[in-house]
Amino acid sequence: MTARILNGQELAQQIQAEIRDEVIEFIENNSVTPCLAAVLVGENPASEVYVRNKRRACEATGIDSQLHRLPATAATDDLLELVKTLNKDDAVHGILVQLPLPPQIVEARVLQAVNPRKDVDVFHPENVGRLMQGRPRFLPCTPQAVQELLIRSGIDTRGQHVVVVGRSDIVGKPLAVMLMQRGPGADATVTVCHSRTRNLAEMTRQADILVAAIGQPKFITAEMVRPGAVVIDVGINRIETGLVGDVDFESVKEIASAITPVPRGVGPLTVTMLLKNTLAAARDGAL
Ligand SMILES: NC(=O)c1ccc[n+]([C@@H]2O[C@H](COP(=O)([O-])OP(=O)(O)OC[C@H]3O[C@@H](n4cnc5c(N)ncnc54)[C@H](OP(=O)(O)O)[C@@H]3O)[C@@H](O)[C@H]2O)c1
Repeated sequence: MTARILNGQELAQQIQAEIRDEVIEFIENNSVTPCLAAVLVGENPASEVYVRNKRRACEATGIDSQLHRLPATAATDDLLELVKTLNKDDAVHGILVQLPLPPQIVEARVLQAVNPRKDVDVFHPENVGRLMQGRPRFLPCTPQAVQELLIRSGIDTRGQHVVVVGRSDIVGKPLAVMLMQRGPGADATVTVCHSRTRNLAEMTRQADILVAAIGQPKFITAEMVRPGAVVIDVGINRIETGLVGDVDFESVKEIASAITPVPRGVGPLTVTMLLKNTLAAARDGAL
């Protein structure tokens, strides 16, 4: 059996077209254009690429975007000052501080300074707490991308055993929380694995749906996957031959029932969810 390929790129284009229609209607009704402000500190090449992709996606959906740059030598207070200005600016609905920040900057202070109503990346403790309680203001972008992909691909999570490999604050942990909540794209039985998990392959082989968010190229091999499982690869790793995921796609696609490729899998959907959150933030401001 060869797995169904879950094409995140196509899905992202479809959702972006829906968002574009909603943005047009929003602008007509409110005479306000939703706006995402990105903050970039220093010149990290990967961050430059991410910010450029986000800007292009904004353009494609009619959302305004701003880019605010600070030098790599900026102090925490410089960044706090900029965030304060963006918080006060009524024309800005979403604020995105591109991570990682240079080591001299106290990341937690900066992320806590963002107005929770503009925190479209969901890093503010208030928004993380709300997510935990099952009453999110925004859903974090990458976990939301995974959930949306499952829902729109017709993969039922209810009562399914989802094994998430990775417990980061950005992907694994919030995704596990979302999948165990009540509701569509959730109601799953969730197991979270990480680098200290014993007998990892034994755990991953129990998954109906296996999510890899590890950051290790081709780490999940066919032996770690139950035949017929759905495999979602969140990983993005640059190796000599290009971009690969955390899953050994070629071997795993032979035994999985469905699998996301890398690239054109979860990545394009993550950016799309950021746009969705920015529109939601603008709607909130327009109430
Ligand atoms: N598609 C997207 O839009 C998107 C968005 C964000 C991230 N990503 C990609 O997703 C991957 C994960 O990102 P992240 O930010 O979550 O990374 P991270 O913060 O480095 O976390 C990686 C997680 O994987 C676990 N892990 C590492 N090696 C392991 C091993 N050998 N066995 C079991 N678990 C292991 C770690 O365990 P410990 O906690 O024990 O260290 C950690 O929990 C990266 O490739 C990243 O580029 C993609």
